Amino acid sequence: MNGPESEETPLRRAVCPGSFDPVTNGHLDIIARASRLYDVVHVAVMINQSKQGLFTVEERIDLLRRVTAEYGNVKVESFHGLLVDFCKQRDIPAIVKGLRAVSDFDYELQMAQMNNGLSGVETLFVPTNPTYSFLSSSLVKEVAAWGGDVSHLVPPLVLEALTQRLGER
Ligand code: PNS
Repeated sequence: MNGPESEETPLRRAVCPGSFDPVTNGHLDIIARASRLYDVVHVAVMINQSKQGLFTVEERIDLLRRVTAEYGNVKVESFHGLLVDFCKQRDIPAIVKGLRAVSDFDYELQMAQMNNGLSGVETLFVPTNPTYSFLSSSLVKEVAAWGGDVSHLVPPLVLEALTQRLGER
């Protein structure tokens, strides 16, 4: 090996992409696990203009930054475009996704194969913690909108934001 490793070894980067409307404990579990496997984890809030969110992209980023603040190697950003372009621009070779159940697999496989075909980026699937295998942002919003208790499914900051936003409606 030539010279000190720190000068020779490039940082290992990965991206955790999603809509994060809002971030749940399930997302956070995947981000935390990715942050232990990679030097830098980019959390990409992908902008989908045809989908009206409960939270604005800026609000989602703010919540994500606050709930991931304890991880020194997580960087939260938004992106308007293809995930492969986000990866190309930042030299990211790997996408990390949580797989909750077999029902996730079909679409996730299609996206993984499409992304790999477009740019060579790899997708790594992390099995979701069984505690969160039923969890999605959509279900959290629906249950919370009807007054159900979601305090065990989202971080306290997100619960506060959800309660406030739903109260405005
Ligand atoms: O949290 P979600 O909504 O399940 O995340 C889906 C997301 C945002 C990761 C996916 O739709 C995506 O990667 N969108 C970016 C646009 C893109 O690259 N589309 C082609 C996918 S093969």
